[in-house]
Amino acid sequence: MILKDIWLDIKAVQERDPAARSALEVFLLYQGVHALIWHRFAHWFYCHKMFFIARLISQIARFFTLIEIHPGAKLGHGILIDHGCGVVIGETAEVGDNCTIYQGVTLGGVGTKKGKRHPTLGNNVMVGAGAKILGAFEVGDNCSIAANAVLLKPLEDNVTAVGIPARPIKKDGVSIPKEKKHVSLEEYEELKQEVEDLKRRLCELEKKE
Ligand SMILES: CC(C)(COP(=O)(O)OP(=O)(O)OC[C@H]1O[C@@H](n2cnc3c(N)ncnc32)[C@H](O)[C@@H]1OP(=O)(O)O)[C@@H](O)C(=O)NCCC(=O)NCCS
Repeated sequence: MILKDIWLDIKAVQERDPAARSALEVFLLYQGVHALIWHRFAHWFYCHKMFFIARLISQIARFFTLIEIHPGAKLGHGILIDHGCGVVIGETAEVGDNCTIYQGVTLGGVGTKKGKRHPTLGNNVMVGAGAKILGAFEVGDNCSIAANAVLLKPLEDNVTAVGIPARPIKKDGVSIPKEKKHVSLEEYEELKQEVEDLKRRLCELEKKE
């Protein structure tokens, strides 16, 4: 089972990283793949309640790959951790199949309470470089989280979210129109007054010339 997972991780890199050449090169030289291999073993020990060995493996993996995956995290198949440096995946995080995670991504929690506190990513989710997804909520299938976004709320399937805090800008590939700001009656009266003042001053200046 673990060997099959490792093979799918290598295939994922070959399919989705245009720079990848052979399976052997990916196996030997891609630290994202190494982190996933270490994690598959660490997670096995975690599931069999050998928490110290599980944490030890995860710390060794972090030392060699600069990718920190808690042994409790549940990762699917065909995950691509590209470049990888600085990726942090928390204990109760879940990552679906065929997700792509770039360098500097955090799947983290907010606060210190125990229990489910990290996000759950659906299948085919792309998390851009430096993005942070914080909290125990779900991100739907086929979502894209922009580079450097900070996502604090759940997303439906097929949504692209950008910014801090991240907001949906596309659904099913179609742009979501930006919210128009409504002007209150008070603001409208103030603006009207300002325009009248400006008009009056303009007339005065024209008369002086
Ligand atoms: C979010 C992302 C997937 C959007 O891709 P897209 O669907 O092609 O979207 P567009 O390029 O049409 O951009 C749509 C809007 O989002 C904005 N946007 C895109 N990326 C953004 C980002 N990272 N932060 C803030 N706004 C962003 C664009 O400026 C545009 O705004 P506008 O409509 O006001 O002009 C992509 O920009 C991204 O961030 N990918 C991550 C790539 C990455 O991390 N690569 C690492 C390689 S090492």
